Amino acid sequence: MLKIKKRIEKLKKIINYHRYLYHVLDKQEISQSALDSLKKELFDLEQQYPSLISPDSPTQRVGGQSLEKFKKVRREKPMLSLNDAFSKEDIEDWLKKISKLLTSKEKASLSFYCEPKVDGLAIELIYKDGLLSIGSTRGDGRIGENVTQNLKTIEAIPLRIRAMPCLLMEIDEQRLNLIATALKKKSLKRIVVRGEVFVSKKDFAEINKRQKEKGLLPFANPRNLAAGSIRQLNPKITALRKLDFFAYDIISELGQKTHEQSHQILKVLGFKVNLDNKFCRNLEEVFQFLKFTQEKRERLPYKIDGIVVQVNNNKIFEKLGVIGKAPRGAIAFKLPLKQATTQIEDIVIQIGRTGALTPVAILKPVRIDGVKISRATLHNEDEIKKLGIKIGDTVIIGRAGDVIPKIIKVLPELRTRQEKIFKFPKICPVCCSKVIKSSIEAVWRCQNPQCFAQKRKRIHHFASKAAFDIKGLGPKIIDQLLEKGLITDPADIFYLQKGDLIVLERFAQKSADNLIKAIEQRKEIALSRFIFALGIRNVGEQTAIDLAEHFGTLGKLENVSLEELQLLSDIGLIVAQSIYNWFNNKKNLKFLKKLTKAVKIEKQKPKIDQKLQNKTFIITGVLESMSREEAKSKVRILGGRVASTISSQINFVVVGKNPGSKLRKAKEQGIKVINEQQFLKILN
Ligand code: IVH
Repeated sequence: MLKIKKRIEKLKKIINYHRYLYHVLDKQEISQSALDSLKKELFDLEQQYPSLISPDSPTQRVGGQSLEKFKKVRREKPMLSLNDAFSKEDIEDWLKKISKLLTSKEKASLSFYCEPKVDGLAIELIYKDGLLSIGSTRGDGRIGENVTQNLKTIEAIPLRIRAMPCLLMEIDEQRLNLIATALKKKSLKRIVVRGEVFVSKKDFAEINKRQKEKGLLPFANPRNLAAGSIRQLNPKITALRKLDFFAYDIISELGQKTHEQSHQILKVLGFKVNLDNKFCRNLEEVFQFLKFTQEKRERLPYKIDGIVVQVNNNKIFEKLGVIGKAPRGAIAFKLPLKQATTQIEDIVIQIGRTGALTPVAILKPVRIDGVKISRATLHNEDEIKKLGIKIGDTVIIGRAGDVIPKIIKVLPELRTRQEKIFKFPKICPVCCSKVIKSSIEAVWRCQNPQCFAQKRKRIHHFASKAAFDIKGLGPKIIDQLLEKGLITDPADIFYLQKGDLIVLERFAQKSADNLIKAIEQRKEIALSRFIFALGIRNVGEQTAIDLAEHFGTLGKLENVSLEELQLLSDIGLIVAQSIYNWFNNKKNLKFLKKLTKAVKIEKQKPKIDQKLQNKTFIITGVLESMSREEAKSKVRILGGRVASTISSQINFVVVGKNPGSKLRKAKEQGIKVINEQQFLKILN
């Protein structure tokens, strides 16, 4: 009771302090929602211990109270994501960084297009000959899910696109002619549009009311409702959900020169575009727009979690390119996170399949933005130090949209001196072997590949949906098999017998039969799944697909050199190195042998990029962006040939600095001569 009394006193003090700051001094140190959360804790404690309610308590103020279900859609131009900015300074830094990549003329002409970042679900629509033919979710960017039938239920999405005469007045005549010509020509054959499916705040509230009336659980937020509705197997249910759609990009070439024009064209084509978007001539106007939108956030009929700022000129946007999975030419200004306060009950260490030790805070369960949270990752040792977290601390946690909950700040004023410092382990808590800190990241890793925790996670990964997809072999069964010593590595799965399984808890004849059958079915597997299942560090689903398509057989991948790996597009040094290391480790090779004895890999036709097939190049002189050897390998990877003497067989002579006599000879024979820039264009 004494402990509770002290907590109540401290809560009252801190709440009162922040109330004063906010209402009297017009200052704010913690958000309104974090403050509400503290008030809620106080209120709950007072309800439990009514004798502790005092008239000065802030509570006494008046009013103070998969998925496999859908077909996959593979896209040529991946749907990217955006890097985040959290302050004006972040936006200024972004502008400085991109300005360095531009000419002074381009810099001078920079303008922006700003859009509220609607809290919904990104989708892509493909129109063929004007008709909506495929609609898909974002998925991992490159591969999405075909949800066409469900998207067709959304009234804001046109099933057929046509120029809307009533809107033609709003666009200048020249541009209109361009669009009309583009539409008449081949461009109409295939038009790709992207945008956001969302639910208005009003409909969200109504749908949740109905859910409650039916005794069903309400949706946590509009984004979850939109996502859940789009991924319904029954389109009739989707239709009931009152989904809406804003288009925000056209991928096809319709003569648009700026992002603003893309929106004008979308409008003319009959799409709903967000009228709250704004063209901004300079950074000052962008900041005004951020302020303006933030202020009217609550009044907007739809929920937003940020503002997208994009370089308006498409040529400049393209020139800025992509870094990682985000375009350099756009940024998402994130509005403050939704926050709450809670206590850290413990910090535990999780070991991933690559041996990384990740500290995780176990929280006293709390709701933020409608979602109950009991854990938050602390990322690594440095993060714990940076935040100064102790076990037992009261902390502010935040969550923006679907972002993983994050600990933002400790409230040391609420400490009782009972808090404990967390000591980061120097040995693996599972296998007791040494942990070593990586030289490139702030990550400690268990160095023992036989570590039970790593092994366990590796086997979970191996049997998971995107890997071997063994039905009925979930983490719980795998754990039991490991405990009973029935498997020690993923390959053992394929040597299991029905009799082995009967000893497992709650395993009847029938389930044993089913599991054995499921394992049997996976004894033949696609190369890409096989590669992904190996759990090589940095090799995700897409990289595995790329590797499978490029090499066609496991043997070729096993014997590839580090240099060749690096030449593949989309594979950087770190990824290449980890693939190379994996296939040059004796233990892994032994495991592969055991696995390939039991499993047959389906033949995969290598998808050699045919782009340069039947094309022969000569490379002469010194190139600026790569060595001659690199240039030759790049041509070969794309299916082309490289020759050393001029003949009529040659298609291109690439000329660098100080070319030799080959240039003269090529000109004499009328062979096409290209410079380095043109060569790079062909390669890309
Ligand atoms: S532009 C390169 N504009 O925000 C990505 N995105 O990380 C181009 N979003 O999942 C996106 N409203 O679904 C853009 N007006 C808007 C948006 C918007 C919401 C979402 C989008 C994507 C995420 C970007």
